[in-house]
This record gives sequence, structure tokens and C-alpha cells, in this order.
Amino acid sequence: MPSVSIIAPTTALRADAVVVGLRTTKNGPKLVDGAASIDAALGGRLHDALRALGASGRPDEVLKVPTLGLADFPLVVSTGLGDDPTSPEAARRAAGAALRTLSGHRRVHLAIDADHGALAEGALLGAYTFTAYKSSPAKPALRTISIAGPTSARAAVRRAAVVAEAVCRVRDLVNTPPNDLYPETFAARAAELAKEAGLTVEVLDEKALKKGKYGGILGVGAGSVRGPRLVRITYRPARAKAHLALVGKGITFDSGGLNLKTANLLWMKSDMGGAAAVIASILAIAALKLPVSVTATAPMAENMPSGTSYRPSDVLRMYDGSTVEVGDTDAEGRLVLADAITRALEDEPDHLIEISTLTGAQLVALGPRMMGAMGAPEWRDTVVAAAGTAGEGIWPMPLPDELRAGLDSPVADLQNVPTERWGGMLVAGRFLGEFVPAGLPWVHLDIAGPAFNNGGPRDYTPKGGTGAGVRTLIAAAEHLAGRAAPSR
Ligand code: BES
Ligand code: MN
Ligand code: ZN
Repeated sequence: MPSVSIIAPTTALRADAVVVGLRTTKNGPKLVDGAASIDAALGGRLHDALRALGASGRPDEVLKVPTLGLADFPLVVSTGLGDDPTSPEAARRAAGAALRTLSGHRRVHLAIDADHGALAEGALLGAYTFTAYKSSPAKPALRTISIAGPTSARAAVRRAAVVAEAVCRVRDLVNTPPNDLYPETFAARAAELAKEAGLTVEVLDEKALKKGKYGGILGVGAGSVRGPRLVRITYRPARAKAHLALVGKGITFDSGGLNLKTANLLWMKSDMGGAAAVIASILAIAALKLPVSVTATAPMAENMPSGTSYRPSDVLRMYDGSTVEVGDTDAEGRLVLADAITRALEDEPDHLIEISTLTGAQLVALGPRMMGAMGAPEWRDTVVAAAGTAGEGIWPMPLPDELRAGLDSPVADLQNVPTERWGGMLVAGRFLGEFVPAGLPWVHLDIAGPAFNNGGPRDYTPKGGTGAGVRTLIAAAEHLAGRAAPSR
């Protein structure tokens, strides 16, 4: 990741490109504050030049103006902030959109007087590329991003760098192909990262899972030659104000199992996006030294069809001792998560956030960008509000009691799918709720759509893994720490 820093607006610029902001007004586009010295270097002609290019200042509009030797920097880039340049998300998107077009440049400077933390975050996220599998890197990597601003903005920019690193880490993990990222290697990578950060980590391998009777994780993992794992990472600061349990789904590839999928298979390397999110978030929470105890629990398995697969009709004895009849091997996430939630609760957290690419029904209900939030209403709404401050799309959803009856099994305590398909996202949430004691503030975030961008790149979001949920998890921990996310 490139470095990012705040520099005084008067500092002489050594940049390959300078980014200015443009906003929409009823009288046409206007330069956002912060561009004055850039405009002056160009003899006050910047606005006219942008007008000549047809600039409007709308979001996602990025225009480039060469400075033809008039300034110390060869290129000015304008990026649209729309009609509200004070919105942090507008700043994030504008910076991201600009940086996405500037690959190949080594030093980029932002001369935009907007939320500095949001600009830094958007710029770092927009600059992301995944080149690990390209034989020859296409372009030199971006090295430094500078932002004109006061020294008081430094803390917000440092936080943004930690947050962006966590998001990019999830993108890398999701983008890594499933022949390289499978439970064993995923767990090893998580353990390596946790140790580097000085956190305690425990990895249960298949043998330990059998000994511990994790029937849900073992059932789902049975079809793959690559055995399942359960990773637990703990962060225990002095004087913690709360204890937050994070649980994330880590299916490294979801073929559906014997209920083999017929669609969306190229999407299913993202089925570990929840696990990656909780792992990256606990690292970030520790790096920010938030006074909140956190435990991240990530069940990892590969859901494959084979002679050793679990079958529709099998009954699994779960880690909590209850039994679940398998109605559909493709509803595997809730099975590994039930065991992980039970394990996470043994540490007696006072808050729980579980995050998973759980249902196609999430996409039907909310589209590809909005996560669904379900759980104890008050904590659910707190987490929804945290997502709002972080700039992530989210919507609160109910867990209607009448959906519980569909999970009754004729032979076991529960079945993993009802016969009726209605409200599939909520049903999955309701299933998970069966493993949470009444009264615990818990929330389930379904990120099936948001975790992976199948469309073209936009604002600060690349194609492929997006890192969805990370910013929400960090913001929720900040809330528990009594710390509002810093801005400006
Ligand atoms: N991993 C999928 C959910 C998913 C679908 C994620 C599309 C991303 C994009 C999950 O394991 C799954 O297969 N869910 C089933 C549940 C059904 C069998 C009750 C689904 O949504 O079809
Ligand atoms: Mn599935
Ligand atoms: Zn799945």
C-alpha cells in the first residue's frame, strides 16, 4: 500500500499528478476549496480548461488537464464531489475515482479541502490493485499520496491508513484463487498476521475439531480433501470497556456440495469474505489500540461434492450438542457459523457481530451493494448507524417469529432449510438466532452481494473482492470504545 500523509498547503509540490475537487452548482461546476494555489499556478485558467472539457462536477467524473510546463507538476486531475462536498462519502468516492485512473503514477497530491480522513481512505482504496498472479507487473506502483491540510488532520489520516489496509487485506484474501487459499493456508495466513501483530491465535485442525465435536464444521468440510479449520484470534487490551465477539464465515470455495450449484460458481471464491473481514478487523482494532476486548472466530471449510461429502438427510450433531438435519448441502454457511457462534460465546462476550456471505436471497432483497442486518433490534440499529458513519451500504431487516416453524425437522432438533423458500435471508438469520442466548446483543450481517463486485470498478471499489463489512466492524468497535470515528 502507498504511504499517505498530510502536508501544509504551502509546501512546494513534488507530485506527478495533483487532484482537485469539482462540485455541482446550479450555475455549473465550481472548484472545491483547496484548489486555489493550483489554479494560480496555471494563471487562473483551470476552471475554464475544465469547462472546455465539459466538466460538471458530478460524482465519478474524472478529467485530466496537462499543465504544459506551466507548473511544477505535469498533470491536474479534477474529480467530482457532486452537490455536497462536506459529505465524507462524497470525498471518499471522489478520491477513489481519481486514484483509480492514476495507476502508473508514483506521487499523487490531493488539493481538496474536504474530510481529510475520508479523502485518505478513498484514495488508498481507489489505488488498490491485485497483481499477485500477473507474471509481469504492468505499471510501477504508486508510492506516496499527500493531502494538503492542517496538522490536526493527521490522526484521522493515520486511522484511515489502518482502515484501508484492513479493507485491502480482505480484498487480497478474497481475490486469491481457491486452489491457493483453502482452509489450511487461510488459517496459516491468519495465524501469521495475528502473530506479527502480537495477538494470541489458536488454530483447530481437523483432528482438534473432531476431538472438540464440532459437527457442523466437520460435516460441511467432509467432502473436500482439504480439511476444515477453526481460527480464533484474541485481542485483550488493558481497561477494556466491552468484549466484542466477531464471527465470520470462511467457506474458501462453495460448490454447493452434493446439492451442486448450477450458477454463480465464479462468485464462490468470495464465500470466505466474512472470515477475512473479522480477521482483518481485529488486526485493525488492535493497531488502533481501541480499549475493547475482541475475539475473532473464523470457521473455515471447503464445500465440495465427493464420496466423503455430507448428504442431504444427514443429521449433524453440532458443537452445542443439538442436532440439525441437512435439507440442502448448499446451506452450509449457517452450519459452520452455528458451531463458531457457540464457541465464541464460551468466552462470554457482551456483544456479538457475525458476518457472512450467507444467502442469494440477500441479493434478491437488497441488491448487490447493501448488506442486510438482522438480530437484537437495539444493537442491530447501533451497527447499522456505525455502517452509516463508515460509508457502507446497509439496511435493517426483521427476524419474524413465524419463520421459525419452517426450521422444524421431522427427525432432528432443527433442519438447515425450510421447504418454503420465502424470506431466505431472514430464515438464515433466524437459524443462527437459535444458537444465540436470549438477551445477548447480537447481529448477523449478510454480505453475499457486497463482498464481491461482479460489475465494473466504480468510485473506490474495484472489480472482485471489495472488503465489505470491515469499515462497519471497526466503526462498531470504536462505538463500544466510546470513540466517535474522527473526521476532518
Ligand atoms: N454462499 C452462498 C450464498 C451466496 C449466493 C453468496 C450468491 C454470494 C452470492 C450460500 O452458501 C448459499 O449457497 N446459500 C443458498 C441457501 C439455500 C440453499 C437455502 C442460497 O442462497 O441459494
Ligand atoms: Mn452454499
Ligand atoms: Zn456459501
